[in-house]
Amino acid sequence: MNNLRIGVPSKGRLADLAAELLNQAGLDFRRQDRSLFARVRDMPIDITFLRPDDMPVLCAEGAIDLGVTGSDLVAESGVSLDERLRLGVGKCRLAICVPEDSDFQKPAELRGCRLATSFPRVTEEYLRSHGVEAHLVPITGSVEVMIALGVAEAIVDLVETGSTLAANRLRVLDEIGRYETVLIQNPDRRQSELADRVVRRLEGVVIARSYSLLEYNIPRAKLAEAEKITPGFNSPTVNPLEDPEWCAIRVMVRRGEVIEVMERLETLGASAILETRITNCRL
Ligand code: PRP
Repeated sequence: MNNLRIGVPSKGRLADLAAELLNQAGLDFRRQDRSLFARVRDMPIDITFLRPDDMPVLCAEGAIDLGVTGSDLVAESGVSLDERLRLGVGKCRLAICVPEDSDFQKPAELRGCRLATSFPRVTEEYLRSHGVEAHLVPITGSVEVMIALGVAEAIVDLVETGSTLAANRLRVLDEIGRYETVLIQNPDRRQSELADRVVRRLEGVVIARSYSLLEYNIPRAKLAEAEKITPGFNSPTVNPLEDPEWCAIRVMVRRGEVIEVMERLETLGASAILETRITNCRL
């Protein structure tokens, strides 16, 4: 009963992401059929499978100590929670969208219009701060078809790749906020030592996923310039080589920048440039 309780999304796109991340961080559990609970092997931790939109409230109420959910859902819930870690996945933006061929140019023109959304609280705050009075139509899904159904003139919905907008011939009028998957914690911080251990483990995986390890040899004369190209997470490791004119570097580089960094290093005179993917780390 005193076990640490972690909420994991039971369905939707977050479910697989969250379970994979926790498993990779060494929390070994398996969901049997559609069961709502699982026990973590060799650790006093219980997993509860919950709807992502219920996660913030249930965490604030103390039903779970930690939970994985979207920061959009935390904002919409309005409850007060500690955000412990950004998980680097599920990045999206919440946007006001209107028909591609409509005349809307700016949000102020939405005065008196109907806006369909499953984010009424965040939308309300946005409209208030922009001094726009509009009528909100709160719904829980399929927001993108509400204009075609004649229910609204505009919608407020999540945009990730933009495919849903394109398929429904909609365009973004304004962006309300940017969100991603986060690890939340109840502010009472029950079982804080174990919770911190879980946070540290997840942090190791999240950082490892966004960085690669780059190794290369560089003439000592070019070291300062090379360090500018690859400053590293803290600082690069520099090792001597048998040839005193050269040295070897090991450094963390953001995955999205690796190819461009390799090209720049090669132009600078580096050789034997190798990228290694890391799966976990403690920095
Ligand atoms: C979200 C959102 C959009 C879609 C946007 O729905 O409501 O419909 O993703 O993504 P895109 O820009 O990549 O097309 P989700 O799939 O999370 O399901 P939902 O209908 O349950 O919200």
